[in-house]
Amino acid sequence: MTAPSDNAHQGLGVDVGGSGVKGGIVDLDTGKLVGERFKLPTPQPSTPDAVAATIATVVDHFGWQGRVGVTYPGVVTEGLVRTAANVDKGWIGTDAQDVISKALGGRSVTVLNDADAAGLAEEKFGAGRDNTGVIVLLTFGTGIGSAVINNGVLLPNTEFGHLEVDGKEAEHRAASSIKEAKDWSYERWTKEVTKVLVVIENAVWPDLFIAGGGISRKADKWIPLLQNRTPVVAAALENEAGIVGAAMAAEVAQAIGKA
Ligand code: BGC
Repeated sequence: MTAPSDNAHQGLGVDVGGSGVKGGIVDLDTGKLVGERFKLPTPQPSTPDAVAATIATVVDHFGWQGRVGVTYPGVVTEGLVRTAANVDKGWIGTDAQDVISKALGGRSVTVLNDADAAGLAEEKFGAGRDNTGVIVLLTFGTGIGSAVINNGVLLPNTEFGHLEVDGKEAEHRAASSIKEAKDWSYERWTKEVTKVLVVIENAVWPDLFIAGGGISRKADKWIPLLQNRTPVVAAALENEAGIVGAAMAAEVAQAIGKA
């Protein structure tokens, strides 16, 4: 267990996914984790109360007393959950900030979309750190998450995974879960990814795409096969991006005096 330091510029981030709830203490100057990550399985069914209790166990593991940043795999506006594509539908309409804060004994909590958190972290500390201009991060996993960041400023809840691409939702066409379910080769799957990227680049004209999610670890096998116009690079922070971005968002919320 890592003892949180009072003086250091640190935050605690918790990344909630379909299979795991992962937390870590983040050095907010470097974007690196201080000590080990701690991961528990996501409870099934993944109801708000069950997930909030798991988050509390992760936070307690670190003995963390400050504000906590938490990701959620759906749309979150002002702490309120609006969608639940790949988690228990009981989340819809829930005040996630409230439910998680209660599980943490009233501690302040900042909740944001998982891909938005990953985008913030990659832009500042990872694959986008040398890039100015518009960055679109996409996470390929069970679904497709998206983040749009312009010179460090996030446009939250973009949800490009639900855009219709050639008559089908983007994430039903090109999430990495579809590649697995259909047992597709990288060649076959990247044809679908290319279609999704083209629709996004024609609408937003980003300077750079960052490809995240577990499959970005095998990026050399598939990024060279893409045929869209905008450069695509692999995410650099791998499975820590959500934790780092959550801690960053919590710090910003604290600085602007959110409850
Ligand atoms: C959700 C997004 C989320 C993505 C990755 C999508 O189904 O709608 O909000 O970022 O999955 O978890």
